[in-house]
Amino acid sequence: MRKLLIIGIGSGNPEHMTVQAINALNRADVLFIPTKGEKKTELAEVRREICARYVTRADSRTVEFAVPVRRTEGVSYDGSVDDWHARIAEIYEHLIGSELGDDGIGAFLVWGDPMLYDSTIRIVERVKARGKVVFDYDVLPGITSLQALCASHRIPLNLVGKPVEITTGRRLSESFPERSQTSVVMLDGEQAFQRIEDPDAEIYWGAYLGTPDEIVISGRLADVKDEILATRARERQRMGWIMDIYLLRKGADFEE
Ligand SMILES: C[S@@+](CC[C@H](N)C(=O)[O-])C[C@H]1O[C@@H](n2cnc3c(N)ncnc32)[C@H](O)[C@@H]1O
Repeated sequence: MRKLLIIGIGSGNPEHMTVQAINALNRADVLFIPTKGEKKTELAEVRREICARYVTRADSRTVEFAVPVRRTEGVSYDGSVDDWHARIAEIYEHLIGSELGDDGIGAFLVWGDPMLYDSTIRIVERVKARGKVVFDYDVLPGITSLQALCASHRIPLNLVGKPVEITTGRRLSESFPERSQTSVVMLDGEQAFQRIEDPDAEIYWGAYLGTPDEIVISGRLADVKDEILATRARERQRMGWIMDIYLLRKGADFEE
């Protein structure tokens, strides 16, 4: 039976690759690499570098495929994501059917870890459910951008014995600072931290983590907010794209 390996490749530094992930790369006959259009060629470049560094078997092949752009006009958010996933599922189905032999092994290289704000597992399940190509799959964990953020700032994720929320920029205001003491924000195109009315909250921000362009800024929200906004705008302009993540924290360890 065909097999897929969904491999977490870490968040920008090729050295995030685990030994398990490297071994999985070398089990694959075909490595599927998504390209996302010109602006983010650096991301495809990290994947290519990982393959060049760690793939030791001579007979595996690399197949690049274009990820379709999500249509947003005239549809709800859920409808737009569903349509996008359906189109990607068709591409996966085609790749599995046409590039893998009956007992072939294919690998998808997933940014960070496949369980965190990533739909590869969901889409692969969708392809499996359609039943047109028969296969099984395994998931190999990777270093997430959240781990890279905490490591670069040298902070623990949670306060002693306290919970943590992981959310998006769109939803941050629903929880922080009233219901959540520690919120990690990903996929934030609107810099939602600028609307948080808690000047004493601490923010730990990071962009392009793990890459040579990594930038980190931290401090009291009111003190560093403008610096983060200016840095983000400048770097986005310079690079043509940005990937950033931050942790907001209200409160302290060992509160009375
Ligand atoms: C689609 S999610 C993928 C997350 C990924 N699966 C992970 O484990 O980190 C993309 C978001 O992850 C965050 N991200 C991923 N890599 C990053 C990096 N190297 N530096 C900063 N943020 C990153 C950003 O918030 C970005 O909007």
